[in-house]
Amino acid sequence: MPKDTLTVTDNRTGEVYELPISHGTIRAMDLRQIKVGPDDFGMMSYDPAYKNTASTTSRITFIDGDKGVLRYRGYPIEQLAERSSFLETAYLLISGELPDADTLDDFTHDITHHTMVHENIRELIDAFRYDAHPMGTLVSTVAALSTFYPEAKDLADPEVRRLQVTRLIAKMPTIAAYAYRHRRGLHYVRPDNDLSYAGNFLNMLFKMTEVKYRPDPAVEKALDVLFILHADHEQNCSTSAMRGVGSSQADPYSALSAACAALYGPLHGGANEAVIRMLEEIGTPKAIGDFMRRVKEGDVRLMGFGHRVYRNYDPRAKVIKQLAHDVFDAVGRNPLIDIALELEKIALEDDYFVSRKLFPNVDFYSGLIYQAMGLPMDIFPVLFAIGRTPGWLAQWEELLSDPEQKIHRPRQVYLGADARDYVPLDARR
Ligand code: CMC
Repeated sequence: MPKDTLTVTDNRTGEVYELPISHGTIRAMDLRQIKVGPDDFGMMSYDPAYKNTASTTSRITFIDGDKGVLRYRGYPIEQLAERSSFLETAYLLISGELPDADTLDDFTHDITHHTMVHENIRELIDAFRYDAHPMGTLVSTVAALSTFYPEAKDLADPEVRRLQVTRLIAKMPTIAAYAYRHRRGLHYVRPDNDLSYAGNFLNMLFKMTEVKYRPDPAVEKALDVLFILHADHEQNCSTSAMRGVGSSQADPYSALSAACAALYGPLHGGANEAVIRMLEEIGTPKAIGDFMRRVKEGDVRLMGFGHRVYRNYDPRAKVIKQLAHDVFDAVGRNPLIDIALELEKIALEDDYFVSRKLFPNVDFYSGLIYQAMGLPMDIFPVLFAIGRTPGWLAQWEELLSDPEQKIHRPRQVYLGADARDYVPLDARR
């Protein structure tokens, strides 16, 4: 009769242990009973980069990396990208269910009416160096929001938490657009409540002297879909940062700022920028062969390829590749697409990539669309951050309501020096 347990024999002692299995996992704390003697601390698992450790249970996002499946609250990403809107998806992620029409109206109204930022925030952004990277400005300004809303520390009150969630989803595009315009030396454009979430963001980025900014419907729709595709991705680096900082019961602005900081790195949200730099460096389809040789020699990485959890085509990349053509039809073709398509074709047939199961990820094509929309590279990770905000907040809410969660505190395997006596300066060689 099969049992949901794992039997472990400790060959050091001959002892046999039976560990319960639940949802295909054993509890790391169950290993601690495995000892060689009473003074032994007990067995731990060693898992650098958490490659095989579940840090939480979650009911938000499901990924099957081998099959290339991504679902938010059970809904396939392809259906949400085609039929939902970013704000509806944000509501879904945070509340767990799709809203009815009135609820969606109320949610949209609340977000729309929290888009303004305090004038001191504008001055704060003004104080950054004239060429500050918008992601650096975003990280700092989001953290600064905690000083504007000190009541956000009251994590026990669900209404207080709900208000900060609304504020963050609403204000991220405003801060992002101000950060962008600061670097361009342009005046700031206030939110326009007549426009959609994506339309207003485009307004705050691009409005010049016209009385009313009217976004291109194809670009507005594409941006909304891109936000949906980025809205959550379970326990990735930035979400783990959000949960890690949130686990100390810091306010959500401080936690979300840490998540933005984690996203900034070139291996995470910075990869879409790195893809464009790589395509520009390659320059022409003729140079691809030489570039691929360098990738295979370990000299450079093919940016926008590979993923910790997907061992198949990233389902978001499939949607974006299709979306790219809609955007190019509206605003003109990005010539770098030819290099990208050729790179993908070669990589998908090359044994180096096939044997390592390296496929295009979300960032391979997203930068090409952003660039075609007229967005400069330094704002790409900022766009990712806006899209990911509801996911970070949904994960933060889940963390706070999970009775099993405590302050995050991984263990280590200490391999440093043994106890030794302090050596005075004049006695050191
Ligand atoms: N180009 C060339 N080789 C690669 C690449 C790549 N993009 N990605 C992985 N490999 C190789 C790697 O060298 C290793 O080979 P070997 O076994 O011979 O040492 C093997 O594939 C496994 O790679 P890994 O580094 O162990 O994989 P990982 O799970 O630690 O890294 C990754 C995942 C996304 C950091 C990595 O694939 C990468 O650096 N990709 C390029 C950056 C990128 O596109 N990042 C965006 C990720 S998706 C959006 C997001 O989540 O932010």
